[in-house]
Amino acid sequence: MRLSIVVPTYNESENIIILIEKLTNVLSNVAFEIIVVDDDSPDGTALLVSKLNRSNIQIIVRQGKRGLSSAVIEGIERAKGEYVLVMDADLQHDEGIVPEMLALLEGKNLDIVVGSRYAHGGGVGEFSKLRSKVSEIATSLANKFIGLTINDPLSGFFIVKRSYVLPILDSLSGKGFKILLDIILSSSGKPKIGEVPYIFKTRLAGKSKLNSVIVLEYLVLLLEKRFSFSVPLDFVSYMLVGLFGVLVHLAVLYGALLIFGFNFISAQLVATLAAMASNFLLNNKYTFFQSTHDGKAFLKAALRFYLLCSLGLLINLSISTNLFSYGIPWYLAGFLGTIISATWNYMSSKLVVWR
Ligand code: GDD
Ligand code: MN
Repeated sequence: MRLSIVVPTYNESENIIILIEKLTNVLSNVAFEIIVVDDDSPDGTALLVSKLNRSNIQIIVRQGKRGLSSAVIEGIERAKGEYVLVMDADLQHDEGIVPEMLALLEGKNLDIVVGSRYAHGGGVGEFSKLRSKVSEIATSLANKFIGLTINDPLSGFFIVKRSYVLPILDSLSGKGFKILLDIILSSSGKPKIGEVPYIFKTRLAGKSKLNSVIVLEYLVLLLEKRFSFSVPLDFVSYMLVGLFGVLVHLAVLYGALLIFGFNFISAQLVATLAAMASNFLLNNKYTFFQSTHDGKAFLKAALRFYLLCSLGLLINLSISTNLFSYGIPWYLAGFLGTIISATWNYMSSKLVVWR
């Protein structure tokens, strides 16, 4: 087979079928397969695709997992074609240039051909001002920081030789949206890259999933690649949320004691519960946004979080009071107890609550 097309989807029921038809038309001379990687979209994207029931279309449904890059990686693992095309489902990428991309890759024996918004003749169509600015800065950062010279290193639309990407699949970070950049930076040699310009179209249906956390993840990816270290971003976020939780705790404690006249122990209890609620909500929205719980699962997750963090609190109390009774100074005993219980909370949140 010549071409495998990997399409990550999240809530693209209004677009995916149209995309499949368009690709089928434009690739009438190419032996291809389509691999849709869907993160169990609530809008039934996966079901719609499986109803097509075509032998050249596979669908991977991932449960309890989110992420564009990691979805693409799973798709590539499944691919059988000589080349792999990665493309969005939302019709913003111009399927019309795929034959040209393929011809360029084969004709010049390149490793990667990028569908490029910033090469001569390309464009971003109706990007909002903010989005164009973010995109421009992100692109120039990649080029300055890492010394890349392609016009659109952040494109989500590209063809790569499968033999080229397979050996590096394991070293890809799988975080965020920047799978192409990750592929380019993870390979040992410099890949031979070509670009074909196109105009990024406006999304007509469904919503973009790009958000500020993804932009942050991108900056972290650049830092990691530049200085070859790895930041456990979720750990940093968890600790920031925890610090914020301390503020919530103190504010509620203040209110309960001085405004509502609770006695200390009840005020402290209410404050603890409130801080846990704030921690749960923020971690659910930001730290573990790739496995956010909503609906029924939300309550179950909250309950687990409360139980595990209460255990964390007991660990904190027993360690710190023990250390204190051995003559360790109060601040050190308190600090160590807190660090150990925070680590416990983080690990159990990651492994149990937002697994
Ligand atoms: N499986 C899966 N899981 N797919 C996802 C997820 C996810 O968590 N998030 C997004 N997708 C799918 C979308 O359904 C769509 O098919 C594609 O990935 C792109 O998502 P968009 O949310 O439409 O991204 P965008 O248009 O804002 O960003 C595009 O342009 C960027 C450059 O400006 C993408 O092509 C990016 O890859 C690209 O970097
Ligand atoms: Mn899009």
